Amino acid sequence: MDIDFKKYVANVQDFPEPGVLFRDISPLMADGKAYAAATDKIVEYAKSRGAEMIAGPEARGFIVGCPVAYNMGIGFAPARKKGKLPRETVSVTYDLEYGQGSLYMQKDAIKPGQKVLVVDDLMATGGTLAATIKLIEKLGGIVVGTAFLIELTDLHGRDKIKGYDMFTLMQY
Ligand code: PRP
Ligand code: ADE
Repeated sequence: MDIDFKKYVANVQDFPEPGVLFRDISPLMADGKAYAAATDKIVEYAKSRGAEMIAGPEARGFIVGCPVAYNMGIGFAPARKKGKLPRETVSVTYDLEYGQGSLYMQKDAIKPGQKVLVVDDLMATGGTLAATIKLIEKLGGIVVGTAFLIELTDLHGRDKIKGYDMFTLMQY
């Protein structure tokens, strides 16, 4: 089915702070057909990269990544914000389009040598993606690709992530 995915993104000026044009994927999630079709596109890409595990950052990375993992019958490794994971973790601090963040992964979330696909809703500066890749590699995982619903091309996130394959469904 051919879907105009941009019809399912709400564009919100000045959220969460002045000057930011927020690309809200809630309408896509609310439409079962569009959500499934977007998931299917990422599944197709994940299969083409030989992914054995999906990893995604909190919180919207879970919304996009978990259905991909479920569809493929493989696992999902969450990268979470501070204070959320109960056992031993590795961590990385990074810059965001708005503010700074830290991400954590539990030490047994990825097996050494496992082929991992990183999935998130959106790439802006690429800081979150770079941090998630670092976490996976600290654990010995092999990042075989990265996939997003949305890429904000003006922020040149791709330049931070040279050498990793990338799939993006929509570009702004
Ligand atoms: C958003 C988005 C990406 C990240 C992209 O997450 O879901 O993970 O920012 O920005 P970057 O490319 O500049 O790093 P956010 O940290 O706002 O958290 P949320 O998913 O919990 O809303
Ligand atoms: N995360 C970082 N920048 C964003 C934006 N402009 N819209 C939605 N999520 C974001």
